[in-house]
Amino acid sequence: MSTNYRLRAAYLYFARPTPILPDQWSRQVLSSLYPQLNLDAVRIVGRMVGALPTPAQVDSNMAAEGYDEAVFRWNRRDVTDSTGQPITLVEVYEAPLPVAVPLDASDMRTPPFTRRDLMAGALAGVGGGLAMGLLAMLVGLFDRSGAMSVWAPLNQIASAILGPDVVGPQFNFTTALVGSLFHFGLSALLGMAFALIYHGVLRLPRRLGAPVAAGAIYGLIIFFLADLLLPMLAPGMAFAAKPGFIAGHMVFGLVIGIVYSRLRPNFSGLLVVLASLLFLGAGVVVTSLNLFMPVQASEQAVGVDSLFNLMMGIATVIFLLVQAALVYAALQFRRKPGDDEDGPPIHGNNTLEIIWTTVPAIIVIIISFLSYQTFVAERAFAKTDMVVEVTGQQFFWTFYYPEEDITVQNELVVPIGRPVQYRLRATDVLHAFWVPDFRIKRDAMPDRVTDTRATASKIGEYAIVCAELCGAGHAQMRGTIKVVSAADFEAWVQEQKNKTVDANDPIAYGRSVFQKAGCTTCHTLTDAGGAGQIGPDLNQIGVVAATRVAGQTAAEYIRTSIVKPGEYLAPQCPMGACPANVMLPTFGTSLSEAELTALVTYLSSQK
Ligand code: CUA
Repeated sequence: MSTNYRLRAAYLYFARPTPILPDQWSRQVLSSLYPQLNLDAVRIVGRMVGALPTPAQVDSNMAAEGYDEAVFRWNRRDVTDSTGQPITLVEVYEAPLPVAVPLDASDMRTPPFTRRDLMAGALAGVGGGLAMGLLAMLVGLFDRSGAMSVWAPLNQIASAILGPDVVGPQFNFTTALVGSLFHFGLSALLGMAFALIYHGVLRLPRRLGAPVAAGAIYGLIIFFLADLLLPMLAPGMAFAAKPGFIAGHMVFGLVIGIVYSRLRPNFSGLLVVLASLLFLGAGVVVTSLNLFMPVQASEQAVGVDSLFNLMMGIATVIFLLVQAALVYAALQFRRKPGDDEDGPPIHGNNTLEIIWTTVPAIIVIIISFLSYQTFVAERAFAKTDMVVEVTGQQFFWTFYYPEEDITVQNELVVPIGRPVQYRLRATDVLHAFWVPDFRIKRDAMPDRVTDTRATASKIGEYAIVCAELCGAGHAQMRGTIKVVSAADFEAWVQEQKNKTVDANDPIAYGRSVFQKAGCTTCHTLTDAGGAGQIGPDLNQIGVVAATRVAGQTAAEYIRTSIVKPGEYLAPQCPMGACPANVMLPTFGTSLSEAELTALVTYLSSQK
């Protein structure tokens, strides 16, 4: 006789009042009747009725409760509680049940794990493997960029069948064979393991959550094995830590869940389809679209982005799961009209608590491991690196190339493919050197040198942004970084070196001082290419300065305004009335007397 059955619900009918609430009393009655039974897995319902139900009434009650005779069996028993009160107990079992089973307490435990469960798991694993092969071929057809190279082994099979022109990478028989064996073999094993854990050990109900749990467990196991363990054991077999990998295996796990559930009765097919679509959607979004990040213009950007995408992928999956559970619970368990019963008494759930503690812990450990790798990769400083000394100052950047002895303002030029160390400092307050397209950002501080490193990988012009609120001109403290070829960089270095200024021409010299000291960032002065909007407009300053303070010449007024910026406040700035002085008071000492004189002469000539 089969023992493959399971008590799912117990209904207790009382014809007289119970000492406590019917549901709780029912629970006590049941646990005294069947001390070995795990009541947490049983739905217990107590009902106060006028008279105990007849067998025909029990059948119609069970039908009204939604128990289908094709799937469930119920058994009516007459018992008494500890006060001697007669009770009708209706036990509802999950099929398959060959016949009404004679009951005794030892039979009523959860059924043992059967060979059939193991077979179902193995078959499901192989089915999942086949489905993944098909999916890989499909992905190979559409993904020419190689962004989903996690599918590589199966992609290569597709390539062999459809031709290398249709599918990305070249066919390599050994890799394809190893990859396939790896996938099919491991998936069969994991399918069995899943069946064993899910059904045999955790004893979770088959109906709900199977595909979700299968997907999550399977995805995490595979991810851990292939992405973390394999690279450590055999560096040549390293897979990239890509979100497609984990998402793909979650889909794979779902397929296992689906096939498994098809082989077992009582499974909600719609739920499986919905959950699969959720996972598939999440995987596709995080893998194929780079929705969240700007251009990847440095080699370091790739690692940062895959880390971000991975976290985004995991967060998306969790978000969808939580929202789906929320919506499902709100719809499924809302109060039915006329139902004034207590909810079932639930006293915690160890299985759930273990799951929701270990799964996040594993995720966090994996993420910290990968974060550390990314961090170390970004900071792999080498003696051969090119060095650029970056100085942040209200409100502009100065870049000094020690090897070439070149200083430029706000416009950095770097050669493609060469690692560059940025050594950061600030002269006044905190600034932050941020190149979004390079994915680097680090604070620049007075009295301390910080550093960061990037290897430009894409020719173009990218923004440098100050990412630390540093004063009134913070928003305008922006520069550009130009990535050029090695030859263009050499040409640019020569051009900079040839830019000598005749110190005997006070106008040209003064203009170069104006530019080098960063004045253009805050002031508009067309002749020097300045378009800053923070300080007063200096076009025609030579005329205006002479009118400001009685008895002072333009040159005297200008010199005082540079050396003691707070002394006079101009009435008009480009963005309205000039605010309280924001100019640095240090130009009197940071500029040499010759530079200061040339600067004053130059500005006085602006009419
Ligand atoms: Cu410098 Cu904000």
